[in-house]
Amino acid sequence: MKREQWGSRAGFILAAVGSAIGLGNIWRFPYMAYENGGGAFFIPYLFAMLTAGIPFMIMEFGMGHKYRGSAPRTFAKLNKKYEWLGWFQVSIAAIIAVYYVAVIGWAISYFNMSFTQSWGADTNAYFFGEYLKLGDNNSPSKLGLVQWHIAIPMAIAWAITFTAIFGGIKAGIERASKIMMPLLFLMVVALIARMIFLPGALDGLNYLFQPDFSKITDPKVWSAAYGQIFFTLSVGFAIMLAYSSYLPEKSDVNNNAFMTVLINCGFSIIAGILIFAILGNMAHEQAKPLTEVVTSGVGLAFITIPAAINLLPAPYILGPVFFFALVIAGLSSHISIIEAVTSAFIDKLKWSRKVAASVVCGVGFIVSMSFATNGGLLLLDLVDYFINNIALLASCIAELFIMGWLVKLTDIHKHVNNISEFTVGQWFKICLRFLSPAFLIVILGTNVVTTLTKGYGGYAQSDLIMLGWGLIAAMLIIAIVINRASSPAIVINESIKEA
Ligand code: ALA
Repeated sequence: MKREQWGSRAGFILAAVGSAIGLGNIWRFPYMAYENGGGAFFIPYLFAMLTAGIPFMIMEFGMGHKYRGSAPRTFAKLNKKYEWLGWFQVSIAAIIAVYYVAVIGWAISYFNMSFTQSWGADTNAYFFGEYLKLGDNNSPSKLGLVQWHIAIPMAIAWAITFTAIFGGIKAGIERASKIMMPLLFLMVVALIARMIFLPGALDGLNYLFQPDFSKITDPKVWSAAYGQIFFTLSVGFAIMLAYSSYLPEKSDVNNNAFMTVLINCGFSIIAGILIFAILGNMAHEQAKPLTEVVTSGVGLAFITIPAAINLLPAPYILGPVFFFALVIAGLSSHISIIEAVTSAFIDKLKWSRKVAASVVCGVGFIVSMSFATNGGLLLLDLVDYFINNIALLASCIAELFIMGWLVKLTDIHKHVNNISEFTVGQWFKICLRFLSPAFLIVILGTNVVTTLTKGYGGYAQSDLIMLGWGLIAAMLIIAIVINRASSPAIVINESIKEA
């Protein structure tokens, strides 16, 4: 069967950018920049972007284009014994997909509430108590009951993702990206244009950009920058391999990779400006220092921003626009995460796209309901920590090690340079073989030691073992078992047929 293809170059770029730009840019990046040295954070961030983000993206686009397969098939084509890494990456995508959709579900609920700001004045108590209904005796392993008011918006998000995946590359994903991305940019630009003129907004920006150079020597800041770059660029977890496997023969891979990375990282800075303009205004309205109004992660989007919206002029317009932007950014990424999983099943089991999409979204929906429970937030927090700080970094190191040292990275280097308008020099290989692995090994090592010695988030050891370490071990074992179970003859035959 002929592999599907993107309809146009712009379609591919919009889909890749749609994948990269997501919840990570809006609710993670701004706080991360603020906490890790403000303006000074841009130095490690841009360094990580140049030495890891861009070369990694070029490599994955090149691999997808050359081997034309989902992650497991791509690694199997390099050598049958590396197929497990593809399945490990697919499992990372599958896990991210089931909790990511919960945050999109919350954003849909908040979009709905933002017309009347029905979250009230105490947005903190509202979010935890009334919306999530998180009880004192809940924990990541004591989840309580499914909350239908969270499950229903999650089902809406799944339905949109399913429609795009079911429709296929051109008629589904590309069409969705062509609607979603321009809409997202328009909404964010419109929001900034309004926010920036509000009293206090510029003070907010000062806080964000004020460089604290003392932080640059702190390894934690570098770790944050490197950790963020892989998640935000959707590399190392099967997505960009799948997306680039649908590129037509004639594709300017280097240029596409540069554009995707620069648009994504540029958007993060724009999202930072938007969030801090809002926070600056809130600090001004409440006559408090900005440091007192900032909260991190989930809290930023669902506690601080609603509180800030309460204080805005025309909150019934600006609130819905903000949450709609968050929903769109999340959905376009969720589609790509699910495509990474779906394409692996299509390639491996020869299922039709319609069957694969139905099974993946159906099972995904059921599993994701564990995040719609009273304790869903706690489970999400724990799993997200382990996936991002351990599994994803380990997957990137394994990919770099295989590509840089076990197979010929030179082949990919030559391949991308042959088909692209401009070529990339030796820095490409230096970054991928030496710089990035060195940084990643130190960061992963530190994360593993810290988690083993200090735990995470005050959760019980049994939860960390079962839902953190145990989950990663299970993902790895499943990946290896699938690798072992499949017959090498099939893959070799397929590679010959497709060569
Ligand atoms: N790249 C996506 C994000 O940043 C997953 O949210």
